[in-house]
Amino acid sequence: MRLSSPKMNVMYKACMKASKSLIRDFGEIENLQVSSKGPGDFVSAADKRSEKIIIEELLKVNSNYGILSEEIGTINKDNLDNRWIIDPIDGTMNFLNGIPQFAISIGYEEKGEIVSGIIFDPIKDEMFFAEKGNGAYLNNSRIRVSNKNKLNESLLVTGGPKYNSKKKDGIFEEYISVSKKVDSSIRKFGSASLDIANVACGRFDGYWQWELNYWDIAAGLIILKEAGGYVDFIGNKEEISLKKNIIATNSKIHSELMSSLLKKNIE
Ligand code: IPD
Ligand code: CA
Ligand code: CA
Repeated sequence: MRLSSPKMNVMYKACMKASKSLIRDFGEIENLQVSSKGPGDFVSAADKRSEKIIIEELLKVNSNYGILSEEIGTINKDNLDNRWIIDPIDGTMNFLNGIPQFAISIGYEEKGEIVSGIIFDPIKDEMFFAEKGNGAYLNNSRIRVSNKNKLNESLLVTGGPKYNSKKKDGIFEEYISVSKKVDSSIRKFGSASLDIANVACGRFDGYWQWELNYWDIAAGLIILKEAGGYVDFIGNKEEISLKKNIIATNSKIHSELMSSLLKKNIE
C-alpha cells in the first residue's frame, strides 16, 4: 500500500477484513447453485456481513463520521462534512452466479467532495486506491489512464439498463448508436466500480452508464481523477445533482464520447 494516511489505513483495514468473509462466502456459491433453493438469500446475507464488518471498522476509528451504505442506508446522517460512502459488494449479480468480477468500494467524502477511495477486487487481489493530490495506484504501482484519443479506436464499457428502467428504450438506442462508432464491441462487465477502476488503469478508454447510485461510483471518482481521467454527469438537473448518470473517460476521448450519447432522448 503506497499511501499511508490515517484515512487510507482505515479503509484498507476495513476492506481486507470484509474481503476475507467475502472470499469465504464466494467459495460456497458453487454448492448453492445446484441446491433447489439457490444462492439468493445466502448472497444477501454475505452482502450484509461484508457491510457490517466495514462499518464496524470505520466507526471504530471515527465514531461520529457520517455513513451512506447501500444495504443499511445512513448512519450519523447529520455529519455531511465527513462521510464514508460504501458498497459492500458491487457486482452482486456476478457474485450470485459465481462470476469473479465484483468489488468492495469505499469512498471518503469531505464537505461534499470525494477526496480518497478504495476499490478492492478480492478474487484478483487488485486494490485500486487514490487520495486527492497524491495519485492513483493499483497495488504497488502508480496507474494512469490510456493515451487513446480517437473514439473509434477506443475500448468502451457500459452497464444496465435496470430491468425496470423507464429509460430502457433510450438506453438501448444509445448503445446501438455508440456501438456503430467504435471498431471493438462495447464491453459489459457488471460492476460499475471495477468498470471505472479499469478506465483509471488504462484497460478501458471510457465508460458511461445511466441510473447508478452514488455508492457504485464514489470511490471511482477520485481514483479516475487522480489517474488523469475525467468525469461528467448527464441527464436532467436533479439527476446531475444526484450523480446518477456518469461518463468517465481517459479525458482524451471525453468530448467525442459525450457528443455521441443520445442525452436528449433519454432524459
Ligand atoms: C450494480 C453494478 C452493476 C450496475 C448496476 C449496479 P450492485 O451494483 O454496479 O454494474 O450495472 O446498476 O446496481 O447492485 O451489484 O451493488
Ligand atoms: Ca453497486
Ligand atoms: Ca452492492
